[in-house]
This record gives sequence, structure tokens and C-alpha cells, in this order.
Amino acid sequence: MMNEVRVGLLGLGTIGLGAARILIEQNSLISKRLGKNVRLVAACDRSLDRTFDLDFSDVRLSDQASDITTADDIDLVIELIGGYEPARTFVTQAIEHGKHIVTANKALIAKHGDELFALAEKHGVSIGFEAAVGGGIPCLKTLREGLAANHITAIYGILNGTCNYILTRMENEGLDFSEVLNDAQSLGYAEADPTFDIEGIDTAHKLSIISAMAFGSTIHFDEVFTEGISKISADDILAAKDLGYRIKLLGIAKPHGDQVEMRVHPTLVPLNAQIAQVSDSYNAVQISGDFVEHTISFGRGAGERPTASAVIADVMDIARVFPDGSNHLAPPMGFISSARTRLATMPMNEVNCEYYLRFMVKDEPGVIAAITTILADQGISLEAVIQKERHKRQLVPVTLLTHETNEGNLQQAIARITQHPHIDANVLILRKERFDA
Ligand code: HSE
Repeated sequence: MMNEVRVGLLGLGTIGLGAARILIEQNSLISKRLGKNVRLVAACDRSLDRTFDLDFSDVRLSDQASDITTADDIDLVIELIGGYEPARTFVTQAIEHGKHIVTANKALIAKHGDELFALAEKHGVSIGFEAAVGGGIPCLKTLREGLAANHITAIYGILNGTCNYILTRMENEGLDFSEVLNDAQSLGYAEADPTFDIEGIDTAHKLSIISAMAFGSTIHFDEVFTEGISKISADDILAAKDLGYRIKLLGIAKPHGDQVEMRVHPTLVPLNAQIAQVSDSYNAVQISGDFVEHTISFGRGAGERPTASAVIADVMDIARVFPDGSNHLAPPMGFISSARTRLATMPMNEVNCEYYLRFMVKDEPGVIAAITTILADQGISLEAVIQKERHKRQLVPVTLLTHETNEGNLQQAIARITQHPHIDANVLILRKERFDA
């Protein structure tokens, strides 16, 4: 029996079916790589009243999670339900019954990962979650194992396939994002609640995990500064391009002594930066370390087959050492649990950035001077000021690029500028990264 690892699967949605497909269709390849068999014994889903394009004749199907999480003939449970609950309850139950866990659930790990890692350690089982960050890209394994000899100095990630797909099509086709979102949903990229994608929450889940793994911290998803792409128009994308930049939703994490900077927002990246070339549902994670310098991992960040690929790679890692448990694998968060500490999150007001600012103003004499005077007064120097259109009666956009300043200072300047009677209170603030460090 030790030459076989018996798997139970929770959730037969897009990724669940992909994972089942690999276990069934690639069974022989998996055995050749492991020297042991990995068998899908049982699967559970709320709605079984449908046809599957997979042969489940040897698989026990159930609509009760406890048939998987407590079953004596299951060694490893794959959780692909998504969301915080009931996933947390089911995973907890499975760990308490001595099952190893593999999950693609970034929300679960971002919010409850530390509690689940502690429970898994107590029960001597492993938790694999490669698919939670970067879809099919083995970026967590790269960080945890391949870059283990480094102090990590920065992480930049395009971590949400839906947003990257939407931004790419907005740029290429001049479409509004709501038109493209439907396509992202039908391709299986979007979350059950797509506001998680659009408003940056999914990226923040992933960033909080990869950041904690990079810097040896506990996970603090609630502290990630998070802005999504819903305020970005096709016009902004074109204006940025005119200036030599592409807008990408980035997750950014950098260490500062005993603090960590963690932010998710639409970011202007130079058109010639490698990360600017990442289009469609592709993700990329750029990780820099003190010895390795810069690395970049690239691949599909969402969708059935790429995500299932990462899920089953985790299953195989655990199966390879089975029946031995967690102490035969790298620690899940890359540091032994006693070495992980609580690093404080740097307040956003203290973070330094360069900015792209778009004011809507009345085209009257002195308006641009008023903006630049206040910026100068706050010690903010400028790289560019652009006003293209002229409409005496309508508001026109005035776009500025600033040099580096801190967020608190910038926000004070904006508050002062928007008191001007000819300047609209609605200001688009985008942050800019150079990638030339
Ligand atoms: N909704 C996510 C995305 C799925 O679009 O990237 C992969 O985590």
C-alpha cells in the first residue's frame, strides 16, 4: 500500500475537473516520475447531477465533504472549493484526520494559512499551495527552494490573470473593461465573485502569501494596500502608452528593516521592462535576491489546465516522500516555523513612489500654474506636464509625472490642489515603477 497514495478531491469546478483529468489521464507519467501510484479514490461536489467528460467509474462520488475528509482510505485531500468557508472547516477536519492537503485556495491561505500550517505541523502532515499564487507558474517553489540562499530584496508580480487579460484587451481593442470581463469569466479565469479580481483583492491574497514566504513573516493579507483596475479607462491606457508606459496591476513587496512594504495597484511600467511584455492571462513574478540578483518566472496565471498542473505537482511532491510527512519537505512558508516572525507592514503614507496624476480641470489661465506651485511647495518635482485637449466649456485632462516622493506628502498636495475652484476633486493617482534598479 505504501506504493500508492490515495487522493480525495473536494470540488469539481473548473480547477477540480482539471486536477481529476491529470490524475486520470497522466496516471502512467506520474507513476514513472514517482515510482509509485497516485490514485483518485473519491471526489465531492455539491452538484453531481450533471455529466462529466471524464471517466469517474472507479471514483467514489459524493456530495458530502466528510466522505472525503474523514475517510480511512484517503491519504491526501485536494481542496478546490475556493473561498474562506466552508473550505477552512473541511481542510481543518481533513488535517485532524491525518490527511495531507493540497489547495489552490489563495483566500484560505492568505487569511487562515498560519493557523492551518500550525495544525498541519502538529499532525505531521503537509500543505501544498503552489497553485494559490501564479496559477501554473512554480513561483513559490522557486522562492522557497531555488532562492533559499538569498535575502529577498524585492518582489514584483502580475498575479491576476483576469486583470491582465482585461488590461491587454482594453489596450489592444480599446474596449471598456466590463465588456472584457464576461470573456474572462467564460474562459474560467475570474473568481466566483469577480470583484475579487477587479478590485485587487485576489492579487492582495497572493502578494501577502509570497511576501510572507520571502521575508520570513507571518501572513497579513488585511494590511496590504489594495487598489484595483476599475477606475482605469482605455484613454488612461493610451495616455500612459504615449508617455512610454504600460499599465499593469502589480503586487509589490519590499523589505525595510523590520517592516515590509506591501501594495497592490495599477502601475505604470516602462514599455521596455520585461514585466510590461506579459499579456493576456499570463502572470509573471520578478523576485530579486542579494546573491542571485533578478529572476523572473512567467506562465499562465489562471485557467483549468495550468492551475491543475501546479496542484498535481504539489500532490506529487507529497507523494514522493509518503508515508513520511511534513518534515521531509521544505517548510511550507520557506522558514522553519520558530524562525517566522511578525514583520510590521509599512504604513502606505511612508512608502516612496513616483506618480502619474490625472486632474480634470477647467481650461482657464493659471490652473496648471496652481497645480505645479502646490507640488513645488510640497517639495515634489516633476518629470512631465501634459495638456493636450482644449475645451473652454468642458473639463480637460492635465497629466503630470512626478519624481519620487512619499505617499503622505503626495496626498497632502492632492488635497490642497483639489480645493482650487477650477480643478475637479476626482483625481486619478497611479504609481510608477522604474525596473532599472
Ligand atoms: N481569478 C484568478 C486570476 C484565478 O484571474 O488570476 C487564479 O488565481
